[in-house]
Amino acid sequence: MLEKLPDGYNAVVIGSTGEIGAAILGRLRTDKRCANAIGLSRGTIPAVDYNAPDSLQDAAMQQKAGLGEIHFLFIATGILASSDGASPEKAFSQLTQESLSEEFAINASGPALALSAFMPLLPRNAPFIVASLSARVGSIGDNGLGGWISYRASKAALNQIMHTAAIELGRKNDQAVCVSLHPGTIESDLSRPFARDRFTHTADECAAILLSVLSNLTPAQNGGFFDYAGEEIVW
Ligand SMILES: NC(=O)c1ccc[n+]([C@@H]2O[C@H](COP(=O)([O-])OP(=O)(O)OC[C@H]3O[C@@H](n4cnc5c(N)ncnc54)[C@H](OP(=O)(O)O)[C@@H]3O)[C@@H](O)[C@H]2O)c1
Repeated sequence: MLEKLPDGYNAVVIGSTGEIGAAILGRLRTDKRCANAIGLSRGTIPAVDYNAPDSLQDAAMQQKAGLGEIHFLFIATGILASSDGASPEKAFSQLTQESLSEEFAINASGPALALSAFMPLLPRNAPFIVASLSARVGSIGDNGLGGWISYRASKAALNQIMHTAAIELGRKNDQAVCVSLHPGTIESDLSRPFARDRFTHTADECAAILLSVLSNLTPAQNGGFFDYAGEEIVW
């Protein structure tokens, strides 16, 4: 698993209390080559809360002091329904400023600020992988259905953020791999109300599959958007 990373690599999972994030962290903790696998979320110490952006800088500083470099950064945060309990929009008539702002804050701005805080911990002269959980519905080219406007648009923004980060990281280190991932439909608090039991995998299966996809990526694929089958998704 993650064979291209150095022996004794350090890993950080942001969103480690989520269904997929917890499963990724659990898998990393079974990897003998992984020296440290740290989970961060709103419930950990230090806590990471996108509504309190300083928490990202504080958490990154702590990891820098504790780990030095990190070679694997996995961002597993996200929301689908907004906190007011409203379902994802089926039409523009249902859009509210609050739900748009919240989806962009958690799904796009939060990961962008996480990258800003944690990028200085990525190695300059060794391979590393940065991955963020996006969603296929964030693809403009694949959008034949419409709806879920705030979620789709915030994931499209996340994809642009990840692609832009990949360019910056690739300039500093030609061994960089920084990608967006679509995990499939996985049973979780986020998906349960909307997935109609059409789950592709369990969270643990998903974690194994995504780690395998990431293991097979090379720096030539830096900046891409991949699904759980390892297939590139159109932007
Ligand atoms: N499940 C699916 O079928 C599916 C499909 C496509 C894409 N995805 C994407 O995969 C990612 C993870 O989904 P999941 O199913 O594992 O969801 P989940 O179980 O609901 O986990 C969501 C995670 O996001 C964190 N989070 C929410 N608001 C936050 C905030 N303000 N600050 C920091 N962290 C916050 C949660 O932390 P707390 O524990 O503190 O709330 C939790 O760790 C999401 O980006 C989702 O869009 C999932």
